[in-house]
Amino acid sequence: MPLIIGVPKEIFPDEKRVATVPEVVEKLIKLGFSVAVESGAGDAANFSDDTYRAAGAQVVPGAAQLWAGSDIVFKVRPPTIEEVGMMREGGTLISFIWPAQNPDLMQRLAAKRVTVLAIDALPRTLSRAQKMDALTSQAGVAGYRAVIEAANAFGRFFNGQITAAGKVPPAKVFIAGAGVAGLAAIGTAAGLGAIVRANDTRAEVADQVVSLGGEFVKVDYEEEGSGGGGYAKVMSEGFQQAQREMYAKQAREVDIIITTALIPGKPAPRLITADMVKSMKPGSVIVDMAAEQGGNCELTEPGQAVVRHGVTIVGYTDLVSRLAKQSSTLYATNLFRLTEELCKTKDGIINVNMEDDAIRGLTVIKDGNITWPAPPPKLPAAPAKPAAKPAAVQAKGHGHGAPSEPASGTRIAVMFGVAAALFWFIGAFAPPAFLGHFTVFVLGCFVGYMVVWNVTPALHTPLMSVTNAISSIIAIGALVQIAPPLAAGAERPGDWIRWLAVIGIVLTTINMFGGFAVTRRMLAMFRK
Ligand code: NAI
Repeated sequence: MPLIIGVPKEIFPDEKRVATVPEVVEKLIKLGFSVAVESGAGDAANFSDDTYRAAGAQVVPGAAQLWAGSDIVFKVRPPTIEEVGMMREGGTLISFIWPAQNPDLMQRLAAKRVTVLAIDALPRTLSRAQKMDALTSQAGVAGYRAVIEAANAFGRFFNGQITAAGKVPPAKVFIAGAGVAGLAAIGTAAGLGAIVRANDTRAEVADQVVSLGGEFVKVDYEEEGSGGGGYAKVMSEGFQQAQREMYAKQAREVDIIITTALIPGKPAPRLITADMVKSMKPGSVIVDMAAEQGGNCELTEPGQAVVRHGVTIVGYTDLVSRLAKQSSTLYATNLFRLTEELCKTKDGIINVNMEDDAIRGLTVIKDGNITWPAPPPKLPAAPAKPAAKPAAVQAKGHGHGAPSEPASGTRIAVMFGVAAALFWFIGAFAPPAFLGHFTVFVLGCFVGYMVVWNVTPALHTPLMSVTNAISSIIAIGALVQIAPPLAAGAERPGDWIRWLAVIGIVLTTINMFGGFAVTRRMLAMFRK
């Protein structure tokens, strides 16, 4: 019997999101499930009961009936005590749970002998898990909305303009913390034409900041900020002092600050002091995205927008819900991707496979047994220390690269010695024709290396595809082989060589057109 997926109406105050949308209902039905939605569940996100019905869902009048009749429940906010009470024993719940913050809820769910998949516990560093990463999809929406809230409270344009009525300077925006929400905010603010600067304790994000149109502002203090798994760690007192000085300088210069700094499981780091707020220009705006975790700014009031020292401080905690249609659609798609992983047989039955890294990470309760926390993710988001050589070249290219450990003098000397001996050997014994080609090859490697490492990493894929297309120049060699000989009486290549040339031309044509097409599509993503 195919299982029934139930979607109740969210009852948390001001929560406008819904855990599935009509477009996704159709896909769930194709996977073999039946879908039931509580009447009115999608109203606040602009999805009416009729649109769910049209997609094939059954609309159920009340919460009790919905919970009791569902084998699997999709939710956004962690369930309340009453909701847990309505849940069917032995059922499955997929929702945000925050097990570390909600030990009591975990006990209640375990007592119900259910299986719980906490979408917030997904190991984010597994690239296979990205399609299910609801934290990322929701934080991206929040980052976008934070900029829109800032623009709403700010009395000027974001982009610079020269008009008959006078010159308008572009707004300067500083983003503290370049995680998911921060990067979305950088892209949005840059898209609106502001000058964007950003800082993060994890130096590895510097290139991402630049590729989104921002400038990475470094703290003048050497300390690695990555705590593993793509998250930050608490920094030393020396670093924090240097960071405060840099932030104080930025506060005096910029018009808008958006703070997103967060270390999981810790209170939000206090980055913007009351004095910094006081030093900002009147009419400036701060959007404190970490308001719910205590705030990155000393004067934030969670859930409200207040004016302090002439600066508007926005501490809304419902930024995602303010774009409910968009965030619900993204969330529903994340849950659908997860359901696909749980139901590979496409027959409406799920298999919570604890051998699968992603599923293991998500499963916080299995058949009533608490299985949280899962073993830590095996793969770090990025190497703690970047390989010495590329990072050094990057730092030179952009002036803000990750700090790298200088290669030791002896190692360099040994490498040079070996290379010199190798070149001498080749020079002394190789035939002259080989030597010519070899020199071109070595120069090619050198120039290629210098070019590639000075290109922003985000552009590496289009660069590779265009290089691929250009390499199809070898088609000329193949054409020469099948063309009639130029000189009278010259010998024609044998049949098999000509057939090889034909195959060569076919393959290089695919390579050439494919390469240019991929490059065009990728570059189009960067164009406004
Ligand atoms: P994330 O973990 O991806 O990013 C946080 C970033 O802050 C990381 O890059 C980290 O390295 C950086 N960071 C940590 N300590 C720092 C410090 N002392 N100085 C500079 N950077 C520091 O988290 P995500 O998903 O981007 O969320 C960011 C914040 O936005 C969180 O507080 C989250 O709760 C909040 N949020 C708020 C919403 C709202 O409605 N207000 C909605 C969604 C997210």
